[in-house]
Amino acid sequence: MNVEECKKVVAQHAAALVEPGMVVGLGTGSTAAFMIEALGKRVAKGLDIVGIPTSETTEALARAVGIPITTFASHPVLDMSIDGADEVERGSLHVMKGLGGALLREKIVAQASRRFVVMIDATKPVDKLGERAPVPVEVTPFGRECTAASLEKLGAQIIQPRRTLAGELFVTDNGNMILDCVFGPIQNVPALATRIDGTVGVVEHGLFPNMATDVLVATEREVERWTL
Ligand code: A5P
Repeated sequence: MNVEECKKVVAQHAAALVEPGMVVGLGTGSTAAFMIEALGKRVAKGLDIVGIPTSETTEALARAVGIPITTFASHPVLDMSIDGADEVERGSLHVMKGLGGALLREKIVAQASRRFVVMIDATKPVDKLGERAPVPVEVTPFGRECTAASLEKLGAQIIQPRRTLAGELFVTDNGNMILDCVFGPIQNVPALATRIDGTVGVVEHGLFPNMATDVLVATEREVERWTL
């Protein structure tokens, strides 16, 4: 199986975990999109659920496949959130997210969920987060140069404010910017997460320590399930 096929298979496994009556967090990214399509097929056959999307893109897809959308005002606690990831640390199950730029809503939804199910293919497990992916940090446009300087003092090399393929500054669904910060392999993920959290101008970042309850990993032959 190639990576796309692995994403599709793991997404189908994740969609099968959803039970009638659940309030489900709907992730963002290509793997999450496969999961939403699979869930939409179950809804079409009568599965009674509601979803809270983690991005405008995901909301549009969920509506297109017929998944009823709800809000935190009606459902402040979710049964399960299902999302992709950019890296997952073996053993600890710390997660890195946000290459799709939806990390703030993804973290709010995951935090409000009883279970946070993460779907990855076999290219995503790492020994240390930051081995391959930068840490995406969502910052306010105002003062972003000062915020970037503060992040550099924490050890980050700021690649640059993220841009779209067309070269425009990338703007998140929340009207903010993303600084992709290279820290290299991160020795203590919760400690770095706390330090980034304490940086003025930072809205949120892509480190999700101690949040995943289940990680589904699609390999060539099977889908493994990692839990703590
Ligand atoms: C979106 O902001 C991201 O957190 C994605 O969930 C993550 O980048 C994984 O994306 P893919 O499933 O497209 O690899």
